[in-house]
Amino acid sequence: MNNSMNNILDGKQTSLDLQSEIAQKVETIVSSGGKKPHLAAVLIGDDPASKAYVGHKIKACAKAGFESTIINRNTDISQTELLEIVQDLNDDKSIDGFIVQLPLPDHLDSTEVVQAVSPEKDVDGFHPESVGKMALGLPTYLPATPAGIITLLDRYGIKTTGMHAVIIGRSDIVGNPMSALLSRNAEPGNCTVTQCHSRTVNLREHTLRADLLIVAIGRPNFITADMVKEGAIVIDVGINRIPDPTRKSGSRLTGDVDYENVAPKCSWITPVPGGVGPMTIATLLENTLQASLLKSNASSEK
Ligand code: GUN
Repeated sequence: MNNSMNNILDGKQTSLDLQSEIAQKVETIVSSGGKKPHLAAVLIGDDPASKAYVGHKIKACAKAGFESTIINRNTDISQTELLEIVQDLNDDKSIDGFIVQLPLPDHLDSTEVVQAVSPEKDVDGFHPESVGKMALGLPTYLPATPAGIITLLDRYGIKTTGMHAVIIGRSDIVGNPMSALLSRNAEPGNCTVTQCHSRTVNLREHTLRADLLIVAIGRPNFITADMVKEGAIVIDVGINRIPDPTRKSGSRLTGDVDYENVAPKCSWITPVPGGVGPMTIATLLENTLQASLLKSNASSEK
């Protein structure tokens, strides 16, 4: 039975709205003699998904009037060489913020790399100082994917206070920060949060109790209709490439949720593509604009 109204949370359009708001701010800054925000992205190796994500980020920079720089290195780069790149970016006064696209090839230590990023330029919000500030509710750069989800809920006027949020995933990029943001004393937020992961027993018992279900596990069609409560809000963070012979490319993108069968049960749901992904990009631009403004304020006070 489909008792619920099914509404799509259009991340693509919301992201475009945000990006044009950001572009207007940049125009104002530049026309009054200020500097364009400048984002750098470090891309190691040739993982097609990482290449595509970085490509989207750089394209969005151009559209918003930002400067951008891609630093592309082969998979065989050493840890020392990568740390040198990070240090150069920390020292480069023309760069406001930068990201090192994850995951890195196995021989590289991403924890050490993330810790080498200067917190002032950590527009990904992955440095321990940024994560600690987020946990304490202090101003900092918030990780773009979970912060983008919060913005999406906010832009749709969805009130989450008192909801039972169930998050599936415990990555530092999505699951963990999502849990911190949804349990904060703020709106959207103020949820009672259950965080599930690959070792959770009886997952369905948890997901069925979710008013707000956030899925970031990286497995296509992992969440089926029998796991979702009638009227739930479902946020699908998964981006999985699966074979599809009907497509010219032979494949297509799909989320972690069996959209076709889950959507009719939901009050709101994010599609893949066009849901969470574009919100990540808009949030990264917001963080970079913020970094640029903080830097220009700091230098004008000197
Ligand atoms: N890999 C997947 N998501 C992200 C992200 O938001 N930032 C970086 N640097 N890498 C990622």
